[in-house]
This record gives sequence, structure tokens and C-alpha cells, in this order.
Amino acid sequence: MKIGIGSDHVGYGMKEEVKEYLKSLGHTVKDFGAHGTERTDYPIYGEAVARAVVAREVDCGVLICGTGVGISLVANKVTGIRAVVCSEPYSAQLSKQHNNTNILAFGARVVGIELAKMIVDAWLGAEFEGGRHQRRIDQIARIEGKE
Ligand code: RB5
Repeated sequence: MKIGIGSDHVGYGMKEEVKEYLKSLGHTVKDFGAHGTERTDYPIYGEAVARAVVAREVDCGVLICGTGVGISLVANKVTGIRAVVCSEPYSAQLSKQHNNTNILAFGARVVGIELAKMIVDAWLGAEFEGGRHQRRIDQIARIEGKE
């Protein structure tokens, strides 16, 4: 898969580690920054990865900030994005199976790298189940259309 990745300055170190992990699994990774630990703003990177996902420039995205909250909020402002912020693998798996999430976010101040890898594994390894869940996703899309 081609995976877009982004972080703010707080998530930068973990982004670098997750990037290498994704590559070791055989994925192609496009890095949208940040490119260092100098203070910056998470909306820049959340939006960049989200727009790349919607444009199908990448298949899905991974976003990291301090908590994962800010950067996932940003991503969810982009029409067509369903971003989940997770601190454990179960929600990551179910978010793909039931909500067909296309961006995974987590917090570098919340999870350690080994737990982050487990969350990534659970998310990438899960498949959307469709059926009744598609009906609910269609309802989300209709809400987006009213904005
Ligand atoms: C930056 O200090 C911090 O606010 C950011 O990384 C993130 O946690 C926001 O949700």
C-alpha cells in the first residue's frame, strides 16, 4: 500500500519510527512532514495527509501529534475523511471493520512505539465489512453534504 504519514513537532520522532516500520512491512510511505522538532502547527500536516487520501494520491494515512486529537480533528474536517484516534488496537481494528476509517491517528505523548506498532498492525490488518456499516457511512456522507 501507499501510505501518507504526517505529524507535528511533538509527533516527529514517532513518525520517523513508524515510517521505518511501515517500510519494513513492505509499504511505500509518503512523508508530508513535519521534518524536525522545531515547533509547528498540527493543522498543516493533518490537512496535507487528508487531502492526499481524498485525492487518492495515497491509499490511507497515519497522523501523529501529542495526543492524536488535534491532528485527527483537522483530518475529519476534510470531506471524505474518516479519521480515528486510537490508543489501543481493538478500536483501530473495529474502526476499519465498521467505520472504514481511512486515517489512523495516535498520540506520541500517549502511546509508546511498540503499542503504536500494534495499533498500526490492527488497523492495516482489518477489512471493512460493508453491509449495514456501509449504510451508516452513507449517512455520514449525507451529513457532510449538508455542510
Ligand atoms: C502541541 O503542543 C500539542 O497541542 C499537539 O501535539 C497535539 O497534542 C494537539 O492535539
